[in-house]
Amino acid sequence: MKQYIVAGNWKMHKDIPESRIFVSNILDKLIKQQRSTIILCPPFTALFNVYELIRNTSIALGGQNMHSEPKGAFTGEISGEMLLSAGCQYVILGHSERRHIFGETDDFIRDKVKRALQVGLKPIICVGEKLNERQSGETLDVVRRQCDSALSVVNEQEIGHCVIAYEPVWAIGTGVVATPQQASEAHSMIRKLLSAKYGAENAEVIPILYGGSVKSSNAASLIQAQDIDGFLIGGASLIEDEFVRIAEIVEDYVKQREL
Ligand code: 13P
Repeated sequence: MKQYIVAGNWKMHKDIPESRIFVSNILDKLIKQQRSTIILCPPFTALFNVYELIRNTSIALGGQNMHSEPKGAFTGEISGEMLLSAGCQYVILGHSERRHIFGETDDFIRDKVKRALQVGLKPIICVGEKLNERQSGETLDVVRRQCDSALSVVNEQEIGHCVIAYEPVWAIGTGVVATPQQASEAHSMIRKLLSAKYGAENAEVIPILYGGSVKSSNAASLIQAQDIDGFLIGGASLIEDEFVRIAEIVEDYVKQREL
């Protein structure tokens, strides 16, 4: 059965007390979700504290990044094993801020994906084009290149543990959301690529999330679009009512679809 996901990427927001208060305030509402998976991705320092609040619920925890090596002299880095021991099931990899602010390459991200799967974490693999790439008609080429690279280390058994997130860079934190048509076009291309690599049956159930200025006011139209299986949310995931509302919109949509 297809998995629908609502993931909150808190980025560098919320210290430990703020994280605890936020999760405590929305926990009751989030655990009502039955058909969609909620994933919270707080900063590293708050991971375990959030885990303690959600450990016996259906809500999952994700890291925002990790290194490709298991251990070593990599000051400031975090390994997949460390994320696991903090309670994570997921890890965001290749986020555009990692790619474009911190210079992470396709090769480095590929190695992280490999490592995440080796240790038993589910990678949320982020792809997306920059504004100039969209304007010059390169969107699908860029997304294809990023997907091909990250998935070059993923076999047919492992693909079932992966999540893809299409996040156009120009839509992240700008308030400019992709139209359902723009998002759908990229998602459908990703689905086709997955289908060619892993077969149609496998491809159909891999969640492809949209990210970039998702809010409660645009979530309903986006979730109805072809091949959009949930959201990776930045700014709106930091606001209690907004995050809960978006989760409810996705849950309602999934339940309605199944009627
Ligand atoms: P915003 O929702 O703030 O645009 O951020 C999206 C994002 O980068 C999620 O990973």
